Amino acid sequence: MNLARSFTALNKLLNFVKITRTCVAQSHSQPALTAETYNVKRGNYSTTNASDLDTFRDIVGGNNVVTEASELQGNNVDWIKTVRGQSTVLLKPKTTAEVSKILKHCNERKLAVCPQGGNTGLVGGSVPVFDEVILSTQRMNEVISVDPFSGVTVCQAGCILEKANQDLLEHDLIVPLDLGAKGSCHLGGNISTNAGGLRLLRYGSLRGSVLGVEAVLADGTVLDCLSTLRKDNTGYDIKQLMIGSEGTLGFVTAVSILCPQKPKSVNVVFLGVDRFEDLLLLLRKARQDLGEILSAVEFVDSDCIGLVGKHLKLVNPIGDYDFYMLIETSGSNSQHDEEKLSSFVEDIITSQLAKDGTIATDFNKMQSIWKLRESVAEALTHDGYTFKYDVSLPAHVMYDMVHDTRKHLKGLYNSVVGYGHLGDGNLHLNVTCPEYNKTIASAIEPFVYEWTAKHNGSISAEHGLGFKKRNYIQYTKSKESINLMMKIKEMFDPNMILNPYKTLPDKL
Ligand code: FAD
Ligand code: MLT
Ligand code: ZN
Repeated sequence: MNLARSFTALNKLLNFVKITRTCVAQSHSQPALTAETYNVKRGNYSTTNASDLDTFRDIVGGNNVVTEASELQGNNVDWIKTVRGQSTVLLKPKTTAEVSKILKHCNERKLAVCPQGGNTGLVGGSVPVFDEVILSTQRMNEVISVDPFSGVTVCQAGCILEKANQDLLEHDLIVPLDLGAKGSCHLGGNISTNAGGLRLLRYGSLRGSVLGVEAVLADGTVLDCLSTLRKDNTGYDIKQLMIGSEGTLGFVTAVSILCPQKPKSVNVVFLGVDRFEDLLLLLRKARQDLGEILSAVEFVDSDCIGLVGKHLKLVNPIGDYDFYMLIETSGSNSQHDEEKLSSFVEDIITSQLAKDGTIATDFNKMQSIWKLRESVAEALTHDGYTFKYDVSLPAHVMYDMVHDTRKHLKGLYNSVVGYGHLGDGNLHLNVTCPEYNKTIASAIEPFVYEWTAKHNGSISAEHGLGFKKRNYIQYTKSKESINLMMKIKEMFDPNMILNPYKTLPDKL
């Protein structure tokens, strides 16, 4: 037990935690074609021909029109290698004007388009299903402006999250979003998925921090909602429709984000806990005692720790427990934070709510603790085909879902694990199996969606619906809402060229 350790070294922690992990490609082989696995019928779209390619070359330059099958392989397959498209062309525009010309042409020719950022999405939304043109933000990576006084930052959509955060640190600012895929995901992708991540507890949803969006509509119209104002109640807030619409309503080209100050003092505590109920008591106590400095509350179960150890050789710094909790504080006065944290830690040890734990007193240790949590997604990819679920649930039933899924699947799996953003009521339930097959798939779904709906949860807390979950939207949204969504889609994109087969269900 090293919780009682002195906190003097905390004063040295002036840098905000930033994990510099880059997404690693998985080891298993190519997945089968999505269209075949899921028996999808191709929409009535044109096929790209030589003249289309010439038009694209005129717009973005020959080097930025990729047609080599080998070069397209990575863009056709998702990060967890579960879906595979058949695109034959990838376009890499640099400017909004180029995107506008591309979409105008695609709309006139009725060519389907799949917007793509860092391709780290986990619901099959970022890769084509058939031969959609992949429109990438890879080259749209300029920071347009940073206002160090207000924190308002304007960037092109292809800025990589981690790089943007590093640039902002020079102005004593941070991006109000952090996630394990930070080394690869793009701000445009983050906004298009309304990504949640590890800082949501402190800074809230991107819907609050994004002040403006510039997007190109399906017909090439540039929609300038790139406001930098905090307050603007003039009519409907169209940019909110772009946030979280997963590339089905427009192609995001630039964003304006309200970025908070870099905290001066950051601490991380990693705890071993016997029961899920104790995690909830600890969460409440952390809210009560740490108050305004609390910046993250995450949990993983013992199987997750086993997997990151087995597949990635990450070392658990404390003993073996059923659950582990990561608590981060971020504040502006290290002495004040230190006092609060020591008293919190003393209490939870005395009351035996936490059985063991360690406090990160230096940057590297904080990083390695965060890595244990952030690497679960990667470790799972080494454990087999991963069925991923990302649900919002009332906290008290959260882990029951993991127990019930294990019981329901009667050993049909390699692992069933639970981890996630405890402080946000967001569970990641993941099931790994030796390979994808329909028997396992139908044992898992719709079971998990029914379970979620029965407990008044959401079937997608933060990852979106993409390709995989769109036909389950009715477990969370009413018929009336879905109907309205379909009308909005028709209005924004009458030819349905933007990210077909994604987000909205096949039928109501
Ligand atoms: P992509 O994967 O390329 O695309 C995602 C969706 O957005 C697709 O539907 C795509 O068509 C659309 N899109 C992309 N760019 C644009 C654009 N410019 N205009 C319009 N549409 C666009 N997600 C969370 O919410 N929280 C997490 O904690 C989290 N952790 C993760 C950890 C790991 C290791 C990994 C691999 C993923 C994680 N994710 C998480 C999921 C993923 O990283 C996020 O959804 C991220 O926001 C996707 O960004 P991207 O640039 O990779 O987008
Ligand atoms: C996470 O919180 O680790 C991400 O959302 C990725 C995942 O769900 O595996
Ligand atoms: Zn998550």
